[in-house]
Amino acid sequence: MTYEPSKYIEYFEVDEGYYPEINESSIKDPKNKWQNTFPHKNIVEMLKTIERALSRSEKKSLWVEGTYGTGKSRILWMMQNLLSCPENEFDAYFDEYDGLREEIDLRERLRAARNGKIVTAVRYATGDITSTQKLVFAVFESLTRALKNSGCKFDGAKTLRGKIAGWLESDKANLEMFRAKIRKPEYRMAATLVNRSAEEIIERLKNPQSEVSQLVEEILKLGEREGIRAFNIDMQDLLEWITEVLNENKLKAIILFWDEFSKFFGNNRNNLDEFQRLAELSNIAPFYLVIATHESQSLAGQGDRTFRSIQDRFTHKEIKMPDNIALELIGHALKIKKIAQGRWQDFFVTLRERTAAPRKVVMDFAKVADEKILTDLLPIHPMSAILLKNLATYFASNQRSVFNFIKNTDPNIKAFQDFIATKSPDDGDLLTIDYLWNFFMKAARTNTAATSGA
Ligand SMILES: Nc1ncnc2c1ncn2[C@@H]1O[C@H](COP(=O)(O)OP(=O)(O)OP(=O)(O)O)[C@@H](O)[C@H]1O
Ligand SMILES: [Mg+2]
Repeated sequence: MTYEPSKYIEYFEVDEGYYPEINESSIKDPKNKWQNTFPHKNIVEMLKTIERALSRSEKKSLWVEGTYGTGKSRILWMMQNLLSCPENEFDAYFDEYDGLREEIDLRERLRAARNGKIVTAVRYATGDITSTQKLVFAVFESLTRALKNSGCKFDGAKTLRGKIAGWLESDKANLEMFRAKIRKPEYRMAATLVNRSAEEIIERLKNPQSEVSQLVEEILKLGEREGIRAFNIDMQDLLEWITEVLNENKLKAIILFWDEFSKFFGNNRNNLDEFQRLAELSNIAPFYLVIATHESQSLAGQGDRTFRSIQDRFTHKEIKMPDNIALELIGHALKIKKIAQGRWQDFFVTLRERTAAPRKVVMDFAKVADEKILTDLLPIHPMSAILLKNLATYFASNQRSVFNFIKNTDPNIKAFQDFIATKSPDDGDLLTIDYLWNFFMKAARTNTAATSGA
């Protein structure tokens, strides 16, 4: 009987669906915790920037940029939680990490800001924001939801409710139209409109004693749906309303965290100046946007003047994923099959010993404190692991990401899957850097050929 060495694939399984992304649904997973955000240098800087904005020493909104998968969404999520969580969680986060424990001044300054009541709102994506009207309404909707959740008033006594009541009273035809609309079946669920006469609604809007936040919200929604132009809030209305809500509720700040904002710029080339007015509000009132995009240089033509002035309204922070986090994430993608764990252990010990010297070099270089982060990657050689991360950063595209390298099952692309299918732990094979050459350089050449029409 001939001897057949076993293949790595008998020991490993790779979850093809695994993509370690933070998005609207992943943050709802209770296993996923904002507290696990490792506060690397960029993050500490970012916290300092937001603190300077909150203490009004730098009156600007914040723009977080970075290539794919560098941690933008996680950072927004962490910051939003850190500013709104109970104080014991706030302290626990600062206590947990070396990089934050030493930031005593930052911790106390942020604590002071939080004590002044900050309302945080969250929004994802901008694909559907194709006009100023939609932008205004989206901001209004996100802020009303956040204000409502934190028990604040948002009826806009001086701005919105007066405007609506005024329009309804200014002409009988307006009133009749409104009367007919509120009777429509689709507004049966609108608690403040159903079974009320139009006159009663006007009375409520005009009575300074009555609490009408929800009514205003429902009327504006009706206006949006029915295309009643008079109920449109324009950018000026929105800015006045935000300022009023900040004052009325004596808030320290309102912050809107808007993730995946890149598309906005492409979709709104002609109304960027309206967005600029929103961003400029930070200068006169403590309302801040925290937006996340890919690198801003790639979002507009070099000569686009409005875009440049918008950029100036923000403090920009670029995010780079630190090597230690990237290596840890790759390790999460590789799982040892349960039934092979015993046998794998023997191979593992040998591979770990053989790679001790390069591992030490990589740990020093990439500031990895825990050896396990690199041994979890075996049979990927430590040098290949660190190079993989850096090449992927260099190419900055989803096609050549670290995770694509691990998961790609295309037989023509010789990457991790090909390695585990053909190489053997019996032979002590390690995934060395020649594999990266195939994946990054060959694919890059194919791409260049395709784009140059060759
Ligand atoms: N500082 C960090 N601590 C722990 N995990 C991190 C950190 N930064 C990023 N990650 C992890 O890296 C992965 C990618 O992060 P995230 O989804 O936030 O990137 P992104 O920049 O928003 O990507 P995209 O450009 O695709 O939107 C996630 O699994 C996230 O949890
Ligand atoms: Mg993201």
